[in-house]
Amino acid sequence: MLLISKSKCLLKGKEPIMKLSYVYLKTSPFTCQSKPVVSAKEPFMIMAEPGKKYSWCSCGLSQKQPLCDGSHKKTEMRPYKITSKKECELWFCGCKQTRTPPFCDGSHLEKSVQKCSLGTSIP
Ligand code: FES
Repeated sequence: MLLISKSKCLLKGKEPIMKLSYVYLKTSPFTCQSKPVVSAKEPFMIMAEPGKKYSWCSCGLSQKQPLCDGSHKKTEMRPYKITSKKECELWFCGCKQTRTPPFCDGSHLEKSVQKCSLGTSIP
């Protein structure tokens, strides 16, 4: 298993509005220990405070959705960390199926997500 750490800035015009840091696995995310469970079938909106760090739960096991509570330690997944530079709305994915983590991309509207039970993985 190889952990890779990356970070990037989201830009609005030329001004960075937030920094994203994340660690991901080089191995397939679809092995059985690394498949997220659906924690909600809709996104969570958080009004981000400037300079505050947020850790988005990527495994779906956290009891503090959409944020991390450390439950990922029993999986191969890791949270995504975000620091916003401005006060703004952040729409965090709740279904954990987004292709643009940690943000909602509308994947929760797919039939596979809407049909599955909360707390289970998409087959
Ligand atoms: S809540 Fe996951 S893509 Fe919208």
